[in-house]
Amino acid sequence: MKHVALILAAGKGTRMKSDLPKCAYPVFGQPMITYLVQAIQATKVDEIITVVGHKKEVLMDILSQSSTFAYQSEQKGTGHAVMMAKDLITEPSTVLIFPGDMPLIDTSTIEAFMHYHERENNALTVLSTCVSNPTGYGRIVKEANQIVKIVEEKDADHAIRQIREINTGVYAVNSLYLFDALSKVNNNNKNQEYYLTDIVEIINKSQRVMAYTIEEDYRLTGINDLYTLAGVEKHLQSEINKQHMLNGVHLSNPESIWIAPSVRIESNARILPNCVLSGDTSVARGAIIGPNSEIHNSEIKENVVVKHSVITDSKVSADSTVGPFAHLRMGTVIGTNNRIGNFVEFKKTTTGNKTNAAHLSYLGDADIGSHVNFGCGSITVNYDGVHKHKTTIEDNVFVGCNVNLIAPVTLGKDSFVAAGSTVNKDVPEGALAIARAKQENKEKYAEKIKNGKK
Ligand code: UD1
Ligand code: CA
Repeated sequence: MKHVALILAAGKGTRMKSDLPKCAYPVFGQPMITYLVQAIQATKVDEIITVVGHKKEVLMDILSQSSTFAYQSEQKGTGHAVMMAKDLITEPSTVLIFPGDMPLIDTSTIEAFMHYHERENNALTVLSTCVSNPTGYGRIVKEANQIVKIVEEKDADHAIRQIREINTGVYAVNSLYLFDALSKVNNNNKNQEYYLTDIVEIINKSQRVMAYTIEEDYRLTGINDLYTLAGVEKHLQSEINKQHMLNGVHLSNPESIWIAPSVRIESNARILPNCVLSGDTSVARGAIIGPNSEIHNSEIKENVVVKHSVITDSKVSADSTVGPFAHLRMGTVIGTNNRIGNFVEFKKTTTGNKTNAAHLSYLGDADIGSHVNFGCGSITVNYDGVHKHKTTIEDNVFVGCNVNLIAPVTLGKDSFVAAGSTVNKDVPEGALAIARAKQENKEKYAEKIKNGKK
């Protein structure tokens, strides 16, 4: 039989109290539903269908490459949501249903669950787990060790609330029994919703229904609110950090370090306290990041040192130092052996090797060669209020302190710019540009002032 995964993601996520639809909410900087989709894609599932509704465009945009969509215009419950996919599941299939708010379930759990469902020849299998705190989950009600129904927290009496075996919200079900049972589900419950969980009792009347129970695992947490989300992120953080440490990455005070699952770090790199590394980021061996640094979508090469700095969408080549308090962004590429120092910002700028901008500079839209030195306070004036312009600085240029380079402008190879200059014309190779008012000293000025006062 064909294997179809059906993800329920039409709900608003009222308990999140957020403007984003819940399943799009980021976990470690990545929309929660994408983790689930990646785990499913690694199994033998043939097709993924996602039921969308509230702010459907957001989810359709995120999953445009990986899923087809069913639409639930009004959120009338999980059973109603599954019904909306009926027309898309035309041939008899094993349908694996997942809640879109369970990001951390892993491929091996899904595979073991599918395998069990097929081996036992069940019409319906429910993935359940026993937890220490079952509050908020549907309870698995059993008779003689056999699942008979699922009761939601709101509809449960005191005795049922004591049950610790809960419904994870994951099911494997034969499509024929599924849609037949759903047509019989009503909304006679506290929420006045069509519960998917009611199919247990209905299918049980004529077919084999089992619970596949696994040990308590934070990966099966359904995220309903930001408190739970923080707990899930904490677990994920400690697992990711542990893996890096076992791989030979030195993390100091790992509780304060946040490394997204997408980040790659080589052994013998070191991450100091209070760092956030996210997106498509890589850190090479020998690099030292932190303390207090943020790196997003960037490549940090061998032996680079980054202190108290922010780097986004950029690359820093081997043996360069960045910070303290530097900001590199928008496609900046720093060459090898550079020194990018205190309070320096680079935007869309490239440098060659052994170039220094050690203090208080802004370099934007610039192509900078090798062995260039920027004095304190060198600035590219790249924006005229309407357009951005380019600055080109060739090899071995020396830019003095407090210089404005009004773009577009080119400083030729081996040229010098005197401190305090505002340069708006190209400087030829090997020349010295001085562009400032000549100094005049008025002799005995102090004396004259004093006499004037009397
Ligand atoms: C659900 C289960 C509960 C289980 C828990 C596991 C039901 C009735 N309850 O409760 O037994 O223990 O998950 O985490 O199924 N959704 C729609 N359309 C709707 C309603 C919900 O697409 O009309 C989607 C939501 O976007 C969400 C998923 O279905 O991704 C689950 O809905 P949610 O409201 O979180 O269900 P729970 O109350 O957690
Ligand atoms: Ca939920």
